[in-house]
Amino acid sequence: MINQLAKNKIFLETYGCQMNEYDSELIKTILTKENYCLVENESDADVVMLNTCSVRENANNKVYGRIHNIRHERREQNLAPPLIGILGCMATNFRKALLENPNLAIDFIAGPDSYKRLPQLIREAGHKGSKSFDVTLSEFETYSDVYPVRPKGVNAWLAVMRGCNNFCTFCVVPYTRGRERSRSVENVVEEVRRLADEGFKQVTLLGQNVNSYRHEESDFATLLEEVSKVKGIERIRFTSPHPKDFPDRLLELVAQNPKVCKHIHLPLQAGNNRVLDMMNRTYTQEEYLALVDNIRTLIPNAALSTDIIVGFPTETDSEFEDTVKIMNAVQFDSAFIFKYSVRPGTAAEKKFPDDVADEKKTERIMKLNDIQKDHSLRRNQAQVGETLEILVEEERTTRSLEDFQGRTDTNKLVIFPAGPYHRGNFVEVKITAATPHILKGKVLE
Ligand code: 5AD
Ligand code: SF4
Repeated sequence: MINQLAKNKIFLETYGCQMNEYDSELIKTILTKENYCLVENESDADVVMLNTCSVRENANNKVYGRIHNIRHERREQNLAPPLIGILGCMATNFRKALLENPNLAIDFIAGPDSYKRLPQLIREAGHKGSKSFDVTLSEFETYSDVYPVRPKGVNAWLAVMRGCNNFCTFCVVPYTRGRERSRSVENVVEEVRRLADEGFKQVTLLGQNVNSYRHEESDFATLLEEVSKVKGIERIRFTSPHPKDFPDRLLELVAQNPKVCKHIHLPLQAGNNRVLDMMNRTYTQEEYLALVDNIRTLIPNAALSTDIIVGFPTETDSEFEDTVKIMNAVQFDSAFIFKYSVRPGTAAEKKFPDDVADEKKTERIMKLNDIQKDHSLRRNQAQVGETLEILVEEERTTRSLEDFQGRTDTNKLVIFPAGPYHRGNFVEVKITAATPHILKGKVLE
């Protein structure tokens, strides 16, 4: 029976990576089972929850700004303030702040392994003046018993492992999300079968360190192979991997299995060996380049993308040039480039000074973005004239009602004129033009 006085209208806002998108789907499912309902407008909500990211400083700052803004808007409209909950990666930080400053305008906090306790935490916070939190990290929680309700579409996210044991010195994830744990192959495959029955065509397997997936005797290659046997699922993607976990068996499977997309994200982070060592990345530039060679030999058409951090503590101009050198050698299809920011609790915060000036970081990021734009354009231009198989994702793009958009299996966005096809169809598209970010083409009849 629903308590009419209960605070049961929820608004949930998501920040950060695909794992957080997926977690928000889990959270919504957990709450709707307990008679909470989700509202589209924040101003209709009794409870506003922010599923947060703390991987970089600016993601953190956005959340602080947003909390202030929620309170302010309610005051302006003369409405009662909602309960505000902080979920996800910033939960641990907030718990400390809350304990040190009980006046902080947060009512409840739930860490990434505590979402099943959310109904209780919200109830407790609903009692006048009380605050509630659970930021315990678990060695076992994988939410394998929760089947998230996903928005209808082509792609479904599916977390196959959670947590990270790598402790790259710049990264807060091992502290906010705890140790690695994986779901069983059978459990993942069962969920993928349900996704196929619901009409999803693509599944993206997620994990903070997805290719270090391990459940009993099964490794990531085994998991991929079993998932690829599910009828109805046509494409399988995975993110985010670590370069240390790409044995030949996995690369050969990607090469040979038609359902596994020929796109590999290979976070480089830095090109210089001293910096890589300080980052605890466990590979050298030579090993990274050898892996790229191996990928290109085994999967000749593979698209490669990467993550790079500029201005890691003590990185000199000439060490930064090593990153430029690797980018030029590899010529990635796309890259996410970030300025280093100190994350509380990490080894880098404790051991190294954040001594690269912000202007220097800006200079470096601009240089790498220019280089990447050039490489992305060249890699895309090389596809002009080719005919590629595209999975239709959207029936319209925002710019023109006449266009459709889809992706190549190498994850390139392709725009083409509208026609008698629908989301989830495969079409053959002849590529006619390229920019650094998209391909354009015509559908072959
Ligand atoms: N500063 C800047 N970028 C970071 N990343 C992770 N931690 C930091 C940090 N402290 C980047 C890495 C990672 C991506 C998800 O975010 O490049 O691969
Ligand atoms: Fe962070 Fe490194 Fe783990 Fe990736 S592998 S989540 S960068 S610690």
